[in-house]
Amino acid sequence: MIYLAPIQGFTDYIYRKVYAGIFSSVDAYFIPYVTVQNEQIVRKYEREILPGNNLYGRAVPQILVRDAQETELLGSILKNYGYAEVNLNLGCPYPMVTNRGRGSALLQNPESLKPILDTFFEQFKLKLSVKLRAGLNDPSEIEQVISVLNDYPLSEIIVHARVAKQLYKGTVNEMAFQIALERSEHPVVYNGDIFSVDDFQRRSEQFSAVSDWMLGRGVLMNVFLPAEIKGWRFTDAEKRFTLQHFHAGIVEAYLQAADNPGNALNKLKQFWIYFSLHFDDHARIFKKIKKSKSITDVQREAMLAFRDATLKQTC
Ligand SMILES: Cc1cc2nc3c(=O)[nH]c(=O)nc-3n(C[C@H](O)[C@H](O)[C@H](O)COP(=O)(O)O)c2cc1C
Repeated sequence: MIYLAPIQGFTDYIYRKVYAGIFSSVDAYFIPYVTVQNEQIVRKYEREILPGNNLYGRAVPQILVRDAQETELLGSILKNYGYAEVNLNLGCPYPMVTNRGRGSALLQNPESLKPILDTFFEQFKLKLSVKLRAGLNDPSEIEQVISVLNDYPLSEIIVHARVAKQLYKGTVNEMAFQIALERSEHPVVYNGDIFSVDDFQRRSEQFSAVSDWMLGRGVLMNVFLPAEIKGWRFTDAEKRFTLQHFHAGIVEAYLQAADNPGNALNKLKQFWIYFSLHFDDHARIFKKIKKSKSITDVQREAMLAFRDATLKQTC
């Protein structure tokens, strides 16, 4: 199976809905995290988990918590919304998050995971999976974390085997992933740096025990990647047509959802950070998009790109 990774600010509910309406190659969509402030869910994340915004397939909400109390609050909101499964974020690397004891901060002290997991399984009859990094500072942290996770009936663990202090630099720690694979009593999903069919083939040969894969940035920069991994091939004309269709869907949905056209324009510019990478000449195209003063400007630049620009060869 192929899962779409949660990418805050990019794989929002609009992206997921429009994507799923066009492509059928992603088997589950992980929703970027929701979190708590002043004993309430942070309002800006609320739209992401509304059931009506997630009717496109298997959507898995993700919680970013530091203790049992926050777990109880978010778990009960998600249960009331009717979700059958939840994902726990043990990977977010940013100091704003880790300094508050959430995300990958919990990896350094696996004991702190116990009240969170105990609370979840005592209070809710929902499936729980975990998404984790190899450690906060050191990849050897993963061993103890896995041993705690093995004591709970998790549905799966998704491992992005960088340590948090790397952020997205350097490479995935293959040894740490191998350790997770060997020690985990739960199914292990691979995540990290699959940007092409070749990357996927290399990883699937290396980790032949893995059957489920989570892809993030690779999908943002090549929306065809999950289908290509599953063996589909597209002509240049099919790609141009589909990209155009996808873009039109995104524009329409952002316009509908935004409070004003300025916000929709900003969201669209953000979308183009990765979307421009479908083209060889992406730097020039993105510069034009960035300079756009209106949605109409973006639509014009997009039309020119779909018509004239060379698409990146993907496989
Ligand atoms: C801008 C950005 C936002 C992200 N937001 C989340 C998030 O909300 N929850 C999460 O678990 N991971 C988040 N991630 C990490 C991704 O889910 C994924 O683990 C990471 O990008 C590595 O996979 P990839 O190489 O396939 O992109 C984020 C990554 C980026 C770059």
